[in-house]
Amino acid sequence: MENQDQTQASTTCESSVDVSRECESQQLIADDTKKVVIYGGNGFVGTHVAHALLNKGVCTACLSRSGHKPLHLKDQKWSESVRWCKGNALEPDTKLLERVHGMIALVGSAPLPTTSREAYEAQVIANGETNASAIKAAGEAGIKRIILVGAKLPFFLQSDRFGYAKGKRIAMEAAKAFSELSNEHRAVVLQPGMIFGKRFLKSGKSVSLDTFFKPLSYIMPWQFVCVNRLAERVACEMMCDDSSRGQFIVIKNSQI
Ligand SMILES: NC(=O)c1ccc[n+]([C@@H]2O[C@H](COP(=O)([O-])OP(=O)(O)OC[C@H]3O[C@@H](n4cnc5c(N)ncnc54)[C@H](OP(=O)(O)O)[C@@H]3O)[C@@H](O)[C@H]2O)c1
Repeated sequence: MENQDQTQASTTCESSVDVSRECESQQLIADDTKKVVIYGGNGFVGTHVAHALLNKGVCTACLSRSGHKPLHLKDQKWSESVRWCKGNALEPDTKLLERVHGMIALVGSAPLPTTSREAYEAQVIANGETNASAIKAAGEAGIKRIILVGAKLPFFLQSDRFGYAKGKRIAMEAAKAFSELSNEHRAVVLQPGMIFGKRFLKSGKSVSLDTFFKPLSYIMPWQFVCVNRLAERVACEMMCDDSSRGQFIVIKNSQI
């Protein structure tokens, strides 16, 4: 436990940090390097996206409520080039978003059914309000490009009676509103189905989702996507300058 705390303390920064300046002060990154902030960047998808962006030479900051670098990355050299910062998407610090090229919103919770009003509201907040407030703050901070990871839902769950679906709808609407801020604004929403790959628990233990889901992904490719593939697509969309595709782009699981 002590080791865990030390690891985490040495790799986190406070929310007051200026991500852009922090990146420039790391000598390996030139002034004109693109800077990207990921809300929920310490999670399953977020860590893969951070790695994919880093491979493209992007200076990346992963924001989460804990601000911790996940324990399983402690010996991964690449993770030392990522900023692991505290940042609550529900109360976004616009200073963190200044002079940043793009923002990626990856906050969410598992699509569980709810049996109480509180649990329902928690799903709406975790999947909707969090991402919507981060997207709104990105617009206020002058960011012109955002990427939101939503979810593919079967049609019978696409109803506000399901807190998860309502949350995803709210986040999607925020992304659409962002894209309408000006002709220069662009929002991309990816809607993956079940994401497989090696998932790590907070303890650092791994859970391989490949055993069951990889074979199923060959039978039902429209329902599953590999986390590496999704991360690479998110990173490519962040770096893509092709404005002919429009300002609001929705990418379905089968197109990832
Ligand atoms: N995994 C799948 O199979 C799947 C499928 C379809 C869609 N998705 C969607 O893909 C997105 C990413 O999923 P994931 O599996 O990577 O989730 P995850 O592993 O749970 O990661 C999400 C991260 O968000 C952080 N977070 C939670 N609330 C936050 C807040 N208010 N502000 C800032 N950070 C916050 C959490 O860290 P802290 O607790 O430290 O804040 C957590 O590490 C979600 O929107 C999810 O719904 C996932």
